[in-house]
Amino acid sequence: MTKLGINIDHVATLRNARGEDHPNIIKIAKIVKDSGADSITVHLREDRRHIKDKDLKMLCRKKYLINMEMAANIKMMNIAIRNNPKFVCIVPEKRNEITTEGGLNLNKNFNLLKKIVKNLNKKKIRTSLFIDPTIKNIRLSKKIGAKCVELHTGKISRLVKDNKNFLDELNKIKKCSKFGTDNNIEIHAGHGLDYKTTKLLTKISNISEYNIGHFIIGESIKVGISKVIRNFKKIIK
Ligand code: PXP
Repeated sequence: MTKLGINIDHVATLRNARGEDHPNIIKIAKIVKDSGADSITVHLREDRRHIKDKDLKMLCRKKYLINMEMAANIKMMNIAIRNNPKFVCIVPEKRNEITTEGGLNLNKNFNLLKKIVKNLNKKKIRTSLFIDPTIKNIRLSKKIGAKCVELHTGKISRLVKDNKNFLDELNKIKKCSKFGTDNNIEIHAGHGLDYKTTKLLTKISNISEYNIGHFIIGESIKVGISKVIRNFKKIIK
């Protein structure tokens, strides 16, 4: 069965806007899990703009299947080892970006990534690399020792949203996914996904996991807001 990981970073974004504890991350994580999510993703950014260290600590303690996204550095690796999430996804991180803009530069960070992947695998933390969908990146990921990669779907998502031709990008993702699984690398996909792009990608059977965040949180407001308004109307009537 194809798995679904839910990124709850933007629950923390909303909570942090008021500096209090609503919506509560642990309560949302429970709802996410009870609703059928296979894992819960949180990105502990170096600037801690949404998820904080204590969120990660509490989520890991609750024994949810946590997929911790983190930048490629030893300090983050040690935080991962201390908290012991089930999974880690190593992502590139730029301080001023709004969201993760592209995949890792595997050539440039080859030795560092090899060291981090080796150490996390030793701790039995399944570790994936967030990469742009190219055969070269799959080859390099294999050399680094990754058993798993997440393909950046930002480009195809943008093309679909803009009603542009996405077939070349879809083909690229398809070829990469097949090449990956042929080389014993588990293939995940994520970034910018909504209903439409996810549906398109399901044609690629080699993708075994999707990680989706922003759209789900945004859509949840759309789907849930009328219920909350009705609740308030009852209270004040
Ligand atoms: N996968 C990875 C590796 C990411 O960095 C992100 C964004 O934090 C996502 C998936 C989720 O992207 P989105 O919020 O656009 O669904």
